[in-house]
Order: sequence, then structure tokens, then C-alpha cells
Amino acid sequence: MTAIWASLLNADVGRLAEQVAELEATHAIAGLHVDVMDGRFVPNLAFGPQSVEALRSRTKLPIEVHLMVQDAGPLLPIFHDAGAMRLIVHAEASPHLHRDLSSIERLGAQSGVALNPATRVDVVEPVLGEFEELLLMGVNPGFGGQRFIPSVARKIEHARRMIDRAGAATQINVDGGVKVDNAAHLAALGADRLVVGSALFGAAGIAGCAATFFNLLSPNAKTEKLA
Ligand code: DX5
Ligand code: ZN
Repeated sequence: MTAIWASLLNADVGRLAEQVAELEATHAIAGLHVDVMDGRFVPNLAFGPQSVEALRSRTKLPIEVHLMVQDAGPLLPIFHDAGAMRLIVHAEASPHLHRDLSSIERLGAQSGVALNPATRVDVVEPVLGEFEELLLMGVNPGFGGQRFIPSVARKIEHARRMIDRAGAATQINVDGGVKVDNAAHLAALGADRLVVGSALFGAAGIAGCAATFFNLLSPNAKTEKLA
């Protein structure tokens, strides 16, 4: 089943601990996706290592960190120490992608490579097998609540073919613009994981929204319904 990772970018920062506890209690969420932004690679600022450390002490959910920063190298040990189990770097922002992936491996963390909507999937072919997650951005990074860019659907199919042909175990994650009305389609195209942000914090409440996604993605939707 395609797993749901919760992006906290659109959570209520004043009630973050409470909302994370709610997410965890649903049992529908595989882990937390924490967006880190530097105001340079993307025109916004978001979470730092202190936030990851605080989250780490309050939840058992695994935490992946999505580094939307220029040259993530020096930050890798910092976010690993803070408690991230997976560190994701952008191919467009890493002048030495192979070196960053090697550093992450040396830290003993899992690694991911993120690609913006206009970046070709083939860019990661030379390092396929050297990272665990391919994060395909469904929107231009920097903000939650944007619409999924339709051309990214083709990239999911392309990535699926490339990974399967190589016999690699790389997991495809899709981040940005994932909503109730496209989640099942993105899973069918080949996504192993979906990052869901603003759509989890909707009017139905966190538990209701998480259950809707879980039921949509469950292969046995009829027998496994989460309340
Ligand atoms: C965008 C972030 C995403 C974002 C997802 O720059 O990387 O993780 O928070 O939010 P939604 O689901 O609202 O597009
Ligand atoms: Zn993200």
C-alpha cells in the first residue's frame, strides 16, 4: 500500500505537538515530513534542527527532513543529530550530489534525492542504488497548498520504469499538491509514498482527513476501513 507521510508545513505551529499526537493516533500516517527552507534555494523559511529535536522527543513516528537549501552538506550531520532518520537533498541545489549521498550513508541515515518539477528524472540515473527515496516535487518548492503540476505525472511513470528496469529498491515519493482527488491516481502511476500537507489539516479534522487518505490508498479499502 502507498504510504502517507505528513508534511507539517501547514500545521498550526502553535499547536504542533498536539497536532502531531493527533496524526500519530490515527495510525494512518507512516511518518513525518519536515520541510527545511533557507530563503535562497526557495523564497521562504521553514523549520530548523531545534524543531526536529522537539518533534523527535514527542513522537515515535519516523522523521524525514526535506532540505530545500543551497548546498545542504554542512547541515546533514546537524539534522541527523536532531533525530531525522532520512535526509533528502535537492539535485538542483547540490553541487556534489554523490558526496552528499556518501556523507548521509556515513552518518548511518537513509538518503533521498528531490527533483523540482522541471528537472529530468534521468539526472539521478548515475547514482541510482545509492539513495533510498526519490522525492518528485508535484509543485515548485517553497509553499504548501499549491496545485499539483500535471506534467509531473509523466515523471512518476518514467521514474517507476527506470527504477524497475534497474532492479533498484528506490522508493518513489511525491511531494506537493497531493489531495483526496489525485492520491489514488498518483499511487497507481507508481508512487510508493505520498507527502500530504495542507489536505491533512482540512475542515474534517486531522483524524478524518488522514482516514480518508488511508482508505483511498488501501488495497482492501472495503475491509480495512479506518474510522
Ligand atoms: C513544498 C513542500 C511540501 C509541502 C506540501 O515546498 O516541500 O512538503 O509542504 O504541502 P501540500 O500538500 O499542501 O502541497
Ligand atoms: Zn517537502
